Amino acid sequence: MRRFLFLAVILLISSGRTIAQSPTTLKDAYKSCFTIGAALNPAQFTGQDQVEEAIVKQQFNTISPENVLKWEVVHPQPGAYDFAQADKYVEFGQQNRMFIIGHNLVWHSQTPKWVFEDGKGNPVSRKVLSRRMRDHIEKVVARYKGRIGGWDVVNEALNEDGTLRQSPWMKIIGEDYIEKAFRYAHKTDPQAQLYYNDYSLENEAKRKGALELVRKLKAKGVPITGVGLQDHVNLDSPTADQIDTTISEFGKLDVKVMITELDVDLLPWPASNQTADVSLSVAADPKLNPYPNGLPDEVQQTLAKRYADLFGVYAKHCGLVTRVTFWGVTDKDSWKNDWPVKGRTNYPLLFDREGQPKPAFNAVMQLGPKVAP
Ligand code: G3I
Repeated sequence: MRRFLFLAVILLISSGRTIAQSPTTLKDAYKSCFTIGAALNPAQFTGQDQVEEAIVKQQFNTISPENVLKWEVVHPQPGAYDFAQADKYVEFGQQNRMFIIGHNLVWHSQTPKWVFEDGKGNPVSRKVLSRRMRDHIEKVVARYKGRIGGWDVVNEALNEDGTLRQSPWMKIIGEDYIEKAFRYAHKTDPQAQLYYNDYSLENEAKRKGALELVRKLKAKGVPITGVGLQDHVNLDSPTADQIDTTISEFGKLDVKVMITELDVDLLPWPASNQTADVSLSVAADPKLNPYPNGLPDEVQQTLAKRYADLFGVYAKHCGLVTRVTFWGVTDKDSWKNDWPVKGRTNYPLLFDREGQPKPAFNAVMQLGPKVAP
């Protein structure tokens, strides 16, 4: 028997056929479909957290900045820029041959008040705010030209009903602040991919608003490359069908679709509506934190099934879905431990607090070769 196996291997090698090794990393398991990545905090790209940095280098081929490229971090005061952490993030990405994402240029959150006000605290004019937006985008995008491959240009500009959010950008500049942002970014780095990024786009009303927004931008020749579905999901909502429909609908508008901030919240949801709006905050309550000392195996299996279903839908749209990024590396650092309730023990990602792969990781890996040949 051993003799027969040895001969079979020799025959296979001499015929030039390779023995199909099953992929061992997420990036290899889905490389024929989309890139796979994670949002990083400074500990994960500055050598402080060796365990998580190793996971990033091994498993992923694209990275996103959880916070270090946001306005309040890189441009805290008028004329004052701080690129220390952002430079390290981009260097890490280049050293490890990652497709590097920039997040984000224009958002209603984590943007300092001075951006929208004059010295006396009054709202600035449309002209002044447009110039401040242009200066910021030109400064930040130019610094990483040719290194950051894709930018979340505008983040979360819609309300749940699909109307435009009445942010200071909207109130002071007006609806065309979105078009301006894309044009400023494109003029600064014509090669960079440019995205509109938002959450809960699987909800019909909000999706309709986003589709209309993209349609209008495309009609005006605004250089939008793709739409980011954040996908901060729960165990059962949005459904796989809702996500499937959403990806198809945007595909019809000739834009790429990316899953940009994936995590699965499996703790009790303490609010009436499904949202990822960072301003939501709910008081702590032991009933809302049922697994402080570890996740029961049956819940691990439920999470694994959920992730397999999600990746089944993403891979169904191979080529249209070009990237899947997790919002964090391990359960330890996930924002979902402190949102919308501070101090909970959540388990939303594929790697546990020790950096070990969870059943959900195995489920996603096993699916890969079947759906992404
Ligand atoms: O940097 C300060 C630190 O100096 C201070 O000591 C500490 C004390 O609270 O706060 C630190 O700032 C925190 C920052 O993360 C960096 O860790 C802010 O309080 C905290 O609010 C901020 O949370 C980020 C959140 O965006 C803010 O909006 C989360 O890490 C980040 O995961 C989250 O990411 C957003 C995406 O950008 C857009 N989509 C939704 C997603 C989740 O809210």
